[in-house]
Amino acid sequence: MNKNLLNIVILAAGKGTRMHSSKPKVLHNLAGKPLLQHVLNCAKQLSPEKIIVVYGYGGEIVPDAFEHETISWVEQAEQLGTGHAVQQAAPLLDKDAKVLILLGDVPLVNISSCKALLSKTEQLGLLTVKKQNPSGYGRIVRDASNKVTAIVEQKDANDVQLKINEVNSGIIAANTSHLSAWLQQLNNNNAQKEFYLTDIVAMAVNDGFEVSTEITDDEAAVAGVNSKPDLATLEREFQQRQALKLMQAGVTLFDPLRIDVRGDLEVGHDVEIDVGCIFEGKVVLANGVKIGAYCVIKDSNLGVGTTVAPFTHMEQVVIADDCRIGPFARLRPGTTLNTDTHIGNFVELKNSQVDVGSKINHLSYVGDTSIGKSVNIGAGTITCNYDGANKFRTQIGDNVFIGSDTQLIAPVTIGDGATIAAGSTITKDAPADRLTISRGRQITIEGWKRPQKVKK
Ligand code: UD1
Ligand code: CA
Repeated sequence: MNKNLLNIVILAAGKGTRMHSSKPKVLHNLAGKPLLQHVLNCAKQLSPEKIIVVYGYGGEIVPDAFEHETISWVEQAEQLGTGHAVQQAAPLLDKDAKVLILLGDVPLVNISSCKALLSKTEQLGLLTVKKQNPSGYGRIVRDASNKVTAIVEQKDANDVQLKINEVNSGIIAANTSHLSAWLQQLNNNNAQKEFYLTDIVAMAVNDGFEVSTEITDDEAAVAGVNSKPDLATLEREFQQRQALKLMQAGVTLFDPLRIDVRGDLEVGHDVEIDVGCIFEGKVVLANGVKIGAYCVIKDSNLGVGTTVAPFTHMEQVVIADDCRIGPFARLRPGTTLNTDTHIGNFVELKNSQVDVGSKINHLSYVGDTSIGKSVNIGAGTITCNYDGANKFRTQIGDNVFIGSDTQLIAPVTIGDGATIAAGSTITKDAPADRLTISRGRQITIEGWKRPQKVKK
């Protein structure tokens, strides 16, 4: 056996009946990523020669969801058991490799446990765990000298075996040549009429080999997802682990039980995060960033000292240093804010660039717009960027003052230093350094009376 040649097989063909879902189990999300993606991420970190995924229920939906990954896919058209699943992968295994078998529904699988298991394994090795409640799992049967003799599945176990609390995690390492031979001897003479992978343990013992075990005490790392409650339990476990890592990196979490990170959150020093925030995709928070309660931040980059007040949403946004955002702001894709900009409540920005020191503090929609330096956009300003068919840009120069309740009908350009009077509808370019006003002149009608109700 070539000690350095590693093949990984991931079993992902099952339906997951107890999920009560038409979606294959391994496509359900944990922390924003499919279960199978978590297992793949672990597998990739072990630098295998190849990763083989056995799929079945749901057909091509599963491979289609992982087009971006380099995977050898093997179909198990009928799910006849874990042993039958590995049989499907056997022809693709490198002859002298070590094989690590992972389960697609065990998402928090731990890299160091896998490494420890692999380094111990000669012909066959098992990752086991001692559980308070072993119910449902295959039991590890050992002899008087503590050597493993077999795995007995719950449904096939006798009363004595049912009391064993060391169980099979399902994660198994073996060398290819022996594994292939054992797989050929499997039968389905058992309570579930399935071809059990776990039967290879007794075969190995019968062939005179000692089965090595790596025992972990991390129950979550070997826990399988069989139902929505299982999924929710592991989601919380995963979130708490991430929260701990963030705090260890110096982040102040106002409550580590109330944060959800569904992706990668990169943080600087002295970052503070209030309760109820959700971070999705890749988010970078530089030194001193403060995030208020209940913000949803996706694929965005926030510069040093920027503060975000509660209930702010942002996606694909780049924000420079010392900005003040929210509360209740919505920053949509393509928005970039330069240093010291202020975006206030009920302001929506989309595909817009705001330069140094500019402010949009209240109730505005700004889309497809470039705003210069030190601009003040008054309350209720709307860039009318869409004519029902096409989108157009608005250009606003430096030092512009836009009065409240202004509509800027794009395409339109407002020159540097221009002032737009409140309540204007601007349809033509406004020149630099001048006051532009477009509204009916105020008049008072003498002798006018409010209508009265007619008495019947
Ligand atoms: C299996 C183990 C059990 C272990 C437990 C750990 C066997 C016989 N039993 O039991 O010892 O304690 O995992 O969670 O191996 N799968 C396929 N094709 C199939 C059947 C299953 O790909 O025909 C996949 C499933 O999608 C799943 C994994 O294998 O990802 C485990 O299958 P499951 O039916 O959940 O096995 P358990 O009964 O939990
Ligand atoms: Ca299972």
